Amino acid sequence: MAEETDHGSGAVEPGDTSKRVGAEVIRERGVDPEELREKLIDAIGAEFTTYYYYTNLRMHLAGEEDYKEITEDARLEDRAHFELVVPRVYELEGSLPNDIRDFADRASCPDAEVPTPMDDDGGFDTSDLDVADILEVLLEAERCAIRTWSEICDLTREADPRTYDMAQRILNEEMDHEAWFIELLSKERDDEINPAGHFARGEPGDAPYTKNNPFNDSA
Ligand SMILES: [Fe+2]
Ligand SMILES: [Fe+2]
Repeated sequence: MAEETDHGSGAVEPGDTSKRVGAEVIRERGVDPEELREKLIDAIGAEFTTYYYYTNLRMHLAGEEDYKEITEDARLEDRAHFELVVPRVYELEGSLPNDIRDFADRASCPDAEVPTPMDDDGGFDTSDLDVADILEVLLEAERCAIRTWSEICDLTREADPRTYDMAQRILNEEMDHEAWFIELLSKERDDEINPAGHFARGEPGDAPYTKNNPFNDSA
């Protein structure tokens, strides 16, 4: 007879691959793993769409190389946030929507569009594009990310250390991002000195918290 130990068996039958102990232990601690993973999909939908929108916002900061550099750091780190959490969705038996439109539609943050009217042909009217307006869009996108990952931290703090670890790493970087754009917007719009206390990353999009254990150099 097999030796009895405290954790040698549990809610999932030995050999059952239709269930995951990694999900059941979360449920046993009071969090619904299905609900959590759907929230994670919404949250990384925002990271992914923000990565896209920041590409466009960064390009329209024409001639402001320092602003472009900081926006590039934030852009690449949003991609890192998406990459970090995707595997967790699958561990919790979820999946990415097959249609990217569904994915974008369920993002937990608003679209960070370039703040200028579109012309009839779908092109940008850049004649009255204002740098401060772009910085404000960037700032508000970071604030939405802070709210999103703070909620995930609250949900998982006691029940799911693995997701909590990811969420708090992302939150660290989102708080860096907010501080960067507060500094830039304060100076650009209000001529006010409001230091972030940081400098640009060593390499673009370094992601010091969320890329310390990458699968390989591509992510
Ligand atoms: Fe992010
Ligand atoms: Fe961010």
